[in-house]
Amino acid sequence: MNNSYVVYNDKIVPESEVSISIRSKAFNYGLGCFEGIRAYYNKSEDQLYAFRLDDHYTRLLQSCKALNIQIPYTVQELSKITLELLRKNNFKTTTYIRPLAYKGGEGIGPTLADDDNRLVIYCQPLESYTGKTELKVAITSWQRLEDNMLPPRTKATAAYLNSALASLEVTSKGYDEAIFLTNNGHVCEGPGENLFIVKKGKLITPPPSDNILEGITRETVIELAREELGIEVVERSISRTELYASDEVFFSGTAMEVTPVIEVDDRIIGDGTKGEVSTKIKDLFFDITTNNNPKYSKYCTPVY
Ligand SMILES: Cc1ncc(COP(=O)(O)O)c(C=O)c1O
Repeated sequence: MNNSYVVYNDKIVPESEVSISIRSKAFNYGLGCFEGIRAYYNKSEDQLYAFRLDDHYTRLLQSCKALNIQIPYTVQELSKITLELLRKNNFKTTTYIRPLAYKGGEGIGPTLADDDNRLVIYCQPLESYTGKTELKVAITSWQRLEDNMLPPRTKATAAYLNSALASLEVTSKGYDEAIFLTNNGHVCEGPGENLFIVKKGKLITPPPSDNILEGITRETVIELAREELGIEVVERSISRTELYASDEVFFSGTAMEVTPVIEVDDRIIGDGTKGEVSTKIKDLFFDITTNNNPKYSKYCTPVY
């Protein structure tokens, strides 16, 4: 990726010109927070559309506020420079964008009071995150972080060690992805994605109070289910065995998109194939991300 352009110190520069100190607090203590955004390529229009760009930057600024990382930009400025960056890279394929706000100071000590606040943005082509259309997953023995411990809501870089441990545990046993439980045993989310179950025609998903990241894809799925499919959506705690007894399970996330889960802890979900509701939501989702549904054009910002 070294020949791509990135945003660094307020400017768009070749990635090869960027050097970040080994002493940086972000590197040493994980003092940073980030976003993951996708831009989808619509081939027939030869256009790239950034999906819910402003919503991602609104969340980044909220994370920065919680973590005392002051980056002096508005949502509009961040969106504008991201569009410039995508144009500069001339990407004409589905692209993943990673803005990262962090503490760049080099002194010893994990202090968020440090006033060396920085922002980088890089991007790269990214098609399917897992390379699979349906997943076999397992519940991890690692417990999900809590809001009063290391808030998952802030997409803090340090929180992804929790995610990485969960992924390591289950992928080393041959599963595709992990599911976290909360400290009181409620189903929470995956290491980088939210979770939905379908039961008796209703869509159920854990509430923010169960320590999830309030996903932008999750919000989109809820809107599509209610508006386009007329399905009732309930945000409430889910217990482990309720997951096993679901008719359907699927993940949602910017990287993961909408991906059905067909097995949990070696229990077959439903009839073991991707379910009807998951498939409908997935199809609707890909329609709107490529700006093929005018009703949802508000979520798609053209790059070119
Ligand atoms: C822990 C976690 N949960 C859920 C999500 C899904 O959020 P979104 O749909 O906004 O990408 C992500 C990805 O950002 C994540 O890292």
